[in-house]
Amino acid sequence: MAAEIIYGKELAESIRARLKDEVAELHSQQIHPKLAVVILGNDPASQSYVKGKKKASANIGMDAELIELSEETTQAELLDVVDRLNQDTDIHGILVQLPLPDHINEDVIIEAISPEKDVDGFHPISIGRMMAGKETFLPCTPLGIMTMFHEKGISIRGKHAVVVGRSRIVGKPVGQLLLNEHATVTYCHSRTENMDKYIQEADILIVAVGKPGFVHGDQIKDGAVVIDVGVNRIEDGTLTGDVDFESAKEKASYITPVPRGVGPMTITMLLQNTIQAAKQIHH
Ligand code: GUN
Repeated sequence: MAAEIIYGKELAESIRARLKDEVAELHSQQIHPKLAVVILGNDPASQSYVKGKKKASANIGMDAELIELSEETTQAELLDVVDRLNQDTDIHGILVQLPLPDHINEDVIIEAISPEKDVDGFHPISIGRMMAGKETFLPCTPLGIMTMFHEKGISIRGKHAVVVGRSRIVGKPVGQLLLNEHATVTYCHSRTENMDKYIQEADILIVAVGKPGFVHGDQIKDGAVVIDVGVNRIEDGTLTGDVDFESAKEKASYITPVPRGVGPMTITMLLQNTIQAAKQIHH
């Protein structure tokens, strides 16, 4: 089978056009959705992500404030910044870029963000609501993946979904969202024995490990839906995913490329969550 390629970039563009209209409509009601993005230090990948978030906000006419702090910022100082943003009625969404420096406890910072402004969906209250299948802010990459499934009419119910990688940001939550939609979910990770056995059985395969070429077409089931969340910069400077695209696309029914696949959906879901936060706060 030759796969249909899911271009998240195109889908993201059509969703952003709709979000732009929503922002204009909110402006006409004197509501100005605004995102605050906090970054510590100058890791190039993190810097590039947050610049992308600010630019994407501007492109749909939404305000975004970038708060750039030094790598040496203490946990207490960062908590003060989060607290100020929690209190600021002009701010609807707060995102603290991860990973944080080692001297800061990420959990303490995430738990300090007001759940009403938790547009990353990382707060334990958001996670708990997600696990209970209640409406809440959902983490942006998993939500972007689910949106792709819905848009393409890919069925989830009863399917065996295998999630490779168990991070807080992607693996764990995307497995939960698939479970909420009645998939049978298997998580694989660095300690999994005989991982091949699970990968071979996946109707839906989500790969989020950060290793170029981690999954090859030979390993996957005919007709599998393959979602590649990897963003790896290889020696020649090009971006590549966790899946060997050329071999996998011959066997999959659907596959996402890297770049232009999952990545553009992530920021779009952040914009969507921020608009949602503004609507809820002003409700
Ligand atoms: N670092 C990598 N991805 C993300 C994300 O979605 N949110 C935050 N806050 N940090 C990240």
